[in-house]
Amino acid sequence: RVFADRAEACRILAAELAELVASINASGRPAVLGLATGRTPLPFYAELIRLHRAGQLSFANVVTFNLDEYLGLSADHPESYHAFMRRELFGHVDIPAENIHIPDGTVTDIPAHCAAYEKTIRDAGGIDFQLLGIGRTGHIGFNEPGSPRDSRTRRVELDPITRQDAAPAFGGLENVPTHAISMGCGTILEARKIALLAWGEAKAAIVNEALSGPVTDQVSASFLQQHPDATFYVDADAGARL
Ligand code: GLP
Repeated sequence: RVFADRAEACRILAAELAELVASINASGRPAVLGLATGRTPLPFYAELIRLHRAGQLSFANVVTFNLDEYLGLSADHPESYHAFMRRELFGHVDIPAENIHIPDGTVTDIPAHCAAYEKTIRDAGGIDFQLLGIGRTGHIGFNEPGSPRDSRTRRVELDPITRQDAAPAFGGLENVPTHAISMGCGTILEARKIALLAWGEAKAAIVNEALSGPVTDQVSASFLQQHPDATFYVDADAGARL
């Protein structure tokens, strides 16, 4: 779905999400959301906060799972995804702290932590709605080229392009972590509904490749072509090559 601009795309998706959360809550269970970080979801989170303040969206019965976290960053590091989520969403809405799940970048037993993360998702009944951005390498979460379709939450190595893109935020490439913990492609594809956001001409080529190119582990977002309910929400610039 190509929108005139990102504000319109965010307004529409946020309204759709508010409705989904309300209908799942009305059926008597929590809504389970998979959340993303990066610059892309910022206007979307701002819209969710606006709806919350307007009394149109409550997170009181929402459970969240974030896609990923940098390895080696503790929750108080400003560039950690824990800090990002607090700053951009959780600090402004009524979500109970115990409902928030983000991989821990400081654990020593990474495989055990990843297995536990997967189990927590399963025990919550699976993800109802997964939000995604897309990296220049075509990654979703941190599933860099070569990530298998059936990959699960695990330790991943960041692509040089991804580290370069993160360098300004970290004040230099040398400060960007080399690894992360990320949900796998398989974890993401099990979500019942998926929305991928992309803005700006820098994303136009990779959006086109993900949607119209071959389904390949070299572009993990291309796996979404095979998902029964995945939608790309893009602005005119990101949709320019479709
Ligand atoms: C990081 C995140 C991804 C995100 C990507 C794109 O790699 N782990 O989830 O989609 O960046 O970032 P941005 O939205 O800033 O372009």
